[in-house]
Amino acid sequence: MKPIHVGLLGIGTVGGGTFAVLARNAQEIARRAGRPIVITAVADKNLERAREVVGSTPGVRITDDAMSIVDDPSIDIVVELIGGYGFAKDVVLRAIANGKHVVTANKALLAVHGTEIFTAAQQKGVTVAFEAAVAGGIPIIKAVREGLTANRIEWIAGIINGTTNYILSTMRDSGRPFADVLADAQALGYAEADPTWDIEGVDAAHKITLLSAIAFGTPVQFEQAHIEGISKLAAEDIRYAEELGYRIKLLGITKRVAGGIELRVHPALVPAKRLIANVEGVMNAVLVKGDAVGATLYYGRGAGAEPTASAVIADLVDVTRLHTADPEHRVPHLAVQADRLENTPIVPMSEVETACYLRLRVQDKPGVLADVARILADNGISIEAMIQKEPAEGEGEADIILLTHITREKHIDAAIARIEALATTVGRVTRLRLESLAS
Ligand code: NDP
Ligand code: HSE
Repeated sequence: MKPIHVGLLGIGTVGGGTFAVLARNAQEIARRAGRPIVITAVADKNLERAREVVGSTPGVRITDDAMSIVDDPSIDIVVELIGGYGFAKDVVLRAIANGKHVVTANKALLAVHGTEIFTAAQQKGVTVAFEAAVAGGIPIIKAVREGLTANRIEWIAGIINGTTNYILSTMRDSGRPFADVLADAQALGYAEADPTWDIEGVDAAHKITLLSAIAFGTPVQFEQAHIEGISKLAAEDIRYAEELGYRIKLLGITKRVAGGIELRVHPALVPAKRLIANVEGVMNAVLVKGDAVGATLYYGRGAGAEPTASAVIADLVDVTRLHTADPEHRVPHLAVQADRLENTPIVPMSEVETACYLRLRVQDKPGVLADVARILADNGISIEAMIQKEPAEGEGEADIILLTHITREKHIDAAIARIEALATTVGRVTRLRLESLAS
C-alpha cells in the first residue's frame, strides 16, 4: 500500500527520538498502521544536527524552512516538535489550512491556543493528535478520551512533570543541590527550553489543562489555572512531611465540584503508602477517578527522547488508520463532540477545599501554641496532627508543624495572615496542601 508521507518539524530531543524509533521499528509499525509511515522531509534550524540524525537514510529532504514542508503537497501528516507558541502556532495553523493532519507534543501551544487550533482542524476536517503532550510515553489522552469514555470523571491527579519529579527525588536521595540536579535533567533532555516552565509548575499546568478539558468536555482554560511550582519548597518541609508519613509531590489536579471545576498545580503532601507517592525520578503517574471504574493509575516515563517518541508514533499510526475516515466520525479532539463542549467555570482558588500542612517558626514561650490553636479554631479549622521541634541548643525559636483537617482555602489564608501577625511568629508560615488521593 502507498506509504504515508510525514514532514518532521524540529529534530531535537523528541524529533530525534521519533526519527530513530520510526526507523528501527518501521516494519512492525507498518503492520500495525496498514501501510508504511515514512518521514520524507525534516526541518530544523540546526541543519548540521539534522543531517547527523538523518544520517544515510535515503529519500529525506532536509531544510531549515519548516513552512516549505507545511506547503509541500506530497506531505500527508505534519509532526510539530519545535515547541513554544510563536512559530509553532503558525506552522500548525498553516498545515491545517493546507488540509494536513498534525501530530504535536506541544502542550504549551494547545493549552493556550487549543480552542482556536481544534476549531480550525474541525472546520477543515483534519485531526490534531497530541498524545505526547501529556505525561510523555503514557497513553493517558487515549485512556481518558476513549478508554474511560463510559465514565463521569470525578477527578484527575497526576505527577505530570518529569523534571520536577526527578529533581525532588534526586535531591531527597542524594542531597545534591537543586542547580546540579536541574542541570542533569536538562542534559537528559527532560526540561523545557525554558526550565522555569518546569520548576514553576507552568508545564504541569499546560498538561492538566488539557486533561481537564478532555475529562470534563470544556474548552481549554489555562489562563484560569492556579499554578505553584517547587522553587520555594524547603528541604525541612520534605523532611517533616516524611516524619508525618507523607511524600511531597508536584501534582496537577482537576476535580469536578459543586461550583464548577478545580484546576490547579502545586506541591502537595501525599500519604507515603499511596502508589503515586512512590513514583520517583522522571517517571510520571496519573490517577483518574471515574464513577463507574473507580480509581485507575497510569505510570511510565514522562519525558525523554524515545518515551515521548513512543506517543508521537502512536498518534502517527492512529492518524494513518483514520486518514481516509469520515471527519464527522473521528474521535473528537476534546473527547466530546465539538458542538457539545460546556463552559463549566473554574472555581476560584479561595473556594478550593483541602487539608493543609503548616510550618511556622515561633518564639519558644508559654501560650504561643494556644494563640495559634485559637486562630485556627476562630477560622473553623481543626487540627489533625502536630509536632513541635525542640529549639536547638541556645536558640529561643522552635518549629511547629501542623496538619489540618479539610478546610476552605480562604479560611486558611485568613488564619495564616493572623498567625503571621503574631509578635511571637518568626517569618512567614509555610503552607502546603495535602491530598489523600483516596479512591
Ligand atoms: P528541542 O529543543 O530538543 O528540539 C526542538 C528543535 O526544533 C531544535 O532542534 C530547534 O533548533 C528546532 N527549531 C526551533 N525553531 C525552529 C524553527 N523555526 N524551524 C525549524 N526548527 C526549529 O525540544 P524537545 O524535542 O525537547 O521538545 C519539542 C516539543 O516536545 C516541545 O513542545 C516540548 O514541550 C515537547 N515535549 C518534550 C518532551 C521532552 O522530554 N523533551 C516530552 C514531551 C513533550 P535549535 O535547537 O537550533 O533552536
Ligand atoms: N519538560 C517536561 C517534563 C517534558 O519534564 O515533564 C515532558 O513533557
